Amino acid sequence: MKHVIVTQDLPADVLQATAARFQVSQISLKALGPEAFLKQIGEPDALIVSPGDPVNAALIAELPESVRVISSYSVGLDHVDLAAAEARGITVTNTPDVLTDATADVALLLILGALRGAAEAFRMISEDRWTGWQPAQVFGRDVTGKRLGIYGAGRIGLATVKRAQAFGMPVHYWSGRSRSADFDAIGAEPVSDMDAFLSRCDVLSLHCPSTPTTRGLVNAALIEKLPPRAVLINTGRGDLVVDGDVIAALKSCRLGAVGLDVFNGEPDIDPRYRTLSNAFVLPHIGSATEETRLAMGKVLLANLHDALSGT
Ligand code: DGY
Repeated sequence: MKHVIVTQDLPADVLQATAARFQVSQISLKALGPEAFLKQIGEPDALIVSPGDPVNAALIAELPESVRVISSYSVGLDHVDLAAAEARGITVTNTPDVLTDATADVALLLILGALRGAAEAFRMISEDRWTGWQPAQVFGRDVTGKRLGIYGAGRIGLATVKRAQAFGMPVHYWSGRSRSADFDAIGAEPVSDMDAFLSRCDVLSLHCPSTPTTRGLVNAALIEKLPPRAVLINTGRGDLVVDGDVIAALKSCRLGAVGLDVFNGEPDIDPRYRTLSNAFVLPHIGSATEETRLAMGKVLLANLHDALSGT
């Protein structure tokens, strides 16, 4: 039986299915740190890692020769140094597709919540400040008719477009110079000039991976190019935005609201997001449904099986 290290608590069903096919050891990279982790893992065939695990070049360089595969329980692979893995001949796998709908649902939840003032409305109840229906109270803004700009024309962006269109949002998208036939086919408008793209974003939704070129994308200069009181949505990765700039814009109402599911340095998020009335924030639940996390487990195991069967 191949030996697999699992670095984070997987859902019970996924762990059980993994243990039925592999010899499993649960060893936390985050809790132990790289040195102690490397001392404890022995000579496994594969690692199952998750977002937040620092699988960086230094760790990969020290992995035992036996490690042939790093399988991530996620679509995003920004926590794994892919170049370092390739240099060592280690296969890296992820779990795309099966989490597209769940994550797009959360993008819609954030759009609705941010535009409708859900953070403040929720606090009014939870802090027992509600005095009853009033003509002028917790004013949100209509979703219908707001122009949605999708940054990054991938699968989750596409699924978000379909949902947003059902809510009456006209959609445009930016994906560099290339166009997406899938986006075009459902009537999302390509806008290749970045300034023109931004100037039409009543709502800007980020659907790109975290890479050296996209990190810090949403900064003060970009925010200035958005319409007044634009709404920022992020289900991608926290480091796509510069928190200080976003928070300053929320305070001055240059940004009308944000809906965020991902954060720089999560779970240690900038505490100001917790109290701003125009920040609707969730704890990285994009793919967190029973069905989706189970489906991710199946893809993970198929990936592992395929990658290890030739070794
Ligand atoms: C992913 O798969 O990359 C998600 O962020 C985890 O929910």
